[in-house]
Amino acid sequence: MKKWYAVIGDPIAQSMSPVMHDAWFRENGIDATYIPIHVKAEQLGEAVASLKRLGCSGWNVTVPHKCAIIPYLDQVDEAARRMNAVNTVKVLEDGTLFGTNTDGNGFVRSLQEFGASPEKNGELLVIGAGGAAAGISFALESAGFGQITITNRTIGKAKEMSDAFPGSSALSLDEAQLALDKFDLIVQTTSVGMNFAKSGMPLDPTGISEGAIVADIIYNPLETEFLRRASEVGGKTINGVGMFVHQGALAFELWTGAYPDTKKMIQLISNDLGGK
Ligand code: ATR
Repeated sequence: MKKWYAVIGDPIAQSMSPVMHDAWFRENGIDATYIPIHVKAEQLGEAVASLKRLGCSGWNVTVPHKCAIIPYLDQVDEAARRMNAVNTVKVLEDGTLFGTNTDGNGFVRSLQEFGASPEKNGELLVIGAGGAAAGISFALESAGFGQITITNRTIGKAKEMSDAFPGSSALSLDEAQLALDKFDLIVQTTSVGMNFAKSGMPLDPTGISEGAIVADIIYNPLETEFLRRASEVGGKTINGVGMFVHQGALAFELWTGAYPDTKKMIQLISNDLGGK
């Protein structure tokens, strides 16, 4: 019987996940489909029960349900617990709802695809201290990347996050601005610059060390103001498309056992977004 997968969120119409997963199902000869479902916050419990009852094999979870879905699941793994957020659910053979989070590892895969490694990139700065920053920091730490310095507008949140990562430290944005040349890998995880709605930069990349890798998890626009400036001052920049595609690929692998072609998909999505 044809299997089906979904993504739930509010809003959902903009999601590129259905096109991505449907292409991968076709490429891998898997008889399945993937549909976007608009679920409002107050409908979440009912939606989870319906997905299960109607035989959905697994689904992705996006804004605003990543944290709220946790109580409706039977099991969540450490990645999801550390992030307090689930982006992927798999319905196991016996009906158990298993939740994980592939965002952090998706980011690490995209870094590795770009040539970054713990040997070459040991001095890390993470900008932001929200859920995305926590997931990425956890995945970076698990992948062996070095000590993490966290900087955030609200310094208390940076300190709180650094308490959860042994060996990490926290800086205010002003302090990080002055110390930028210390870092060879800088990761921008805040929402500043997303969808052009919040223009500006959390801090100015002027002052980064020559050849530092500067990543932004935002993919719309493809190049945020932060990345453009980082590139102008000699940084090697990575936008958020790789992370988006790899988080999807890791979900696809969990569901089907196959790791899909990410290079082609990154190209496709970049072309699509670049043309907008
Ligand atoms: P997510 O799950 O996407 O990480 P979040 O948990 O709401 O979302 O975190 C948003 C992050 O963006 C926070 O680090 C936030 O900083 P504060 O902790 O000070 O709120 C950061 N952020 C949002 N708007 C910002 C702005 N205009 N300037 C600097 N940082 C900003």
